[in-house]
Amino acid sequence: KPSAASFVPEGADLAALRRAAAGCRGCHLYEDATRTVFGEGPEDARVLLVGEQPGDVEDRRGEPFVGPAGRLLDKALAEAGLDRAEAYLTNAVKHFKFTLDARGKRRIHKSPARGEVTACLPWLHAELARVEPDLVVCLGAVAAKAVLGNDFKVTERRGRVERHEGRDVIATIHPSAVLRAPDRDEAYQGFLADLRVVREHLE
Ligand code: URA
Repeated sequence: KPSAASFVPEGADLAALRRAAAGCRGCHLYEDATRTVFGEGPEDARVLLVGEQPGDVEDRRGEPFVGPAGRLLDKALAEAGLDRAEAYLTNAVKHFKFTLDARGKRRIHKSPARGEVTACLPWLHAELARVEPDLVVCLGAVAAKAVLGNDFKVTERRGRVERHEGRDVIATIHPSAVLRAPDRDEAYQGFLADLRVVREHLE
């Protein structure tokens, strides 16, 4: 079964984990992606946010949440009274998965398969063990299922802190879902309300 486990150095700090992740071949996604996009942020962050996977812009720049979804996330964090610079941001899957459009020009995001999420999980577990955040925030269903289990339903359980395997975890929608929502303002307000729960939990 595909797994990153044998690539994760034991007892490593975030810098060493990042270096090792750059050479991960735990599943086949490294073949088409430009690079590994590892998590980013202070090792003593109180909040750790988990996205799905890097997008096109992240894949080229090598940093999480620096594209359109990242801009929306930045705005919402600031509006909720949270400082992005103090948060640790990462993704459930560390490589960009995509298909090419008919002309072979545009790279179109493709959702990771469950097996790819599972294969990548050792990296997220290593990040969690190192950062030991007070709260884990799952952005969207892929992150929520990765952290809270495959039967987790974001629409039913979003916006409240749950205790899971000794950690406080909360799930909300993905910032990309806000961008795609038919009623964008309503989706954004809901996202913001969930992030305000995050801020209150950290007080
Ligand atoms: N979407 C994600 O889930 N993660 C990123 O880093 C960028 C977009």
